[in-house]
Formats: sequence, C-alpha cells, structure tokens
Amino acid sequence: MNRKLPIIVVTLVVAVFAFGAWLNLRVVEPPENAAVGGLVVNVNIGGDFALTDHKGERVTQKRFLGKYALIYFGYTFCPDVCPTELGEMALAIDELGAEGDAVTPVMISIDPVRDTPEVLSEYVPLFHERLVGLTGTYAEIKDVAEKYRVFYHRVDDPNYTYYLMDHTSFVYLLDPAGKVASMFRYGTPPEEMAEAIRQHMRVRDNG
Ligand code: NI
Repeated sequence: MNRKLPIIVVTLVVAVFAFGAWLNLRVVEPPENAAVGGLVVNVNIGGDFALTDHKGERVTQKRFLGKYALIYFGYTFCPDVCPTELGEMALAIDELGAEGDAVTPVMISIDPVRDTPEVLSEYVPLFHERLVGLTGTYAEIKDVAEKYRVFYHRVDDPNYTYYLMDHTSFVYLLDPAGKVASMFRYGTPPEEMAEAIRQHMRVRDNG
C-alpha cells in the first residue's frame, strides 16, 4: 500500500471542495445590475430588424416601442427547449398580473424554412394569446440573430427524415425604448423573470 495515497486523496478532496466553493462564490457574487435582475447586458446587443409576423404583416422593432418586449429566438419544430421556454415566458407575464399587459411576448424563428407565417399562426396561440411570432427570409433572420448574438444551425441526423436546429436559448427583455435591458438564461424561473421585469418598471417609473 502506497503511504502517500491518503495524502493524495485528501489533497484531491480539498481541491475539489475549494473549486466548488470558488464556483459558488462566482455564482453568488451579485452582478452589477443585481438591483434589476437578469444578466448584465452588453450595450451592443440588439438593434433594428424587419420581419414578417404570424399574420403575414411586415413588422419592424418600432412595433414594440412604448412597451416592454420579451423576445425569444426558437422554432416551432423544437421538441423540447423552445416550448418549455415559451411556456415560462407566458407564466412570467401572468405572474405580473395587470403589469403584464405592458409586456409583449415575441418569438423570432431561427428556422424560417419551416416557420412560415401560417405555421407560426397555429403555434403562437398555444403559449400566449398575445405572443407575436416573427419570421423572415434567411437573410433577415441571419441579420437579427447576429444583432442579438444568437447562434443557430441546422442539424441533420441520417437516422431521421427531419432536421433539428441547434440554437442559443436566451430570453431578452426590451425596454419601451427598444433597448435590451436584461437577458435571462434558459431555465430562469418565471417568478424570477417577473420580478426582474417588475424592478425594471420601478426603476424606470422612478427615473
Ligand atoms: Ni429550441
């Protein structure tokens, strides 16, 4: 039996715990905008877009000015992540009660080949009566995705006749001036999202 083994084991255990504690500290450490919730947002995220909504009408970012918007990038064929997150967004808006009327939920498709306005019009009411579905040409979607730093690509599996899309799953909160005020990670509890939105509203009302 190697007499050094227990020392190595103890050292490893300490190292693992220290690393865990360090990770925890990093998570617990409040971000700069902790007062308003969500993730710190790079000022360069967001911008103008021109797309087509689920009713077939052309829409720019101006449509959402004067209200808050919760924007999610996804696609209707998504088996799991997108429906979950769209459901959470709807719950967050419900959680806000009357204040929720000042928030427009929006889904921008990153799969414009499948997500025609017709397909979106069947899909969006499943999540929220006011959910706006947006799609566009390949170039229009590429442009808005780049502005929001959304990454997506088509995944073809030879075992299936259909394709899936890989994509980033953040929810973006736009303030009434059209600026990205917060970002929420996939899986952020609806109550947390609602609370962050409420705080943004308070800060804005008092500012
Ligand atoms: Ni998805």
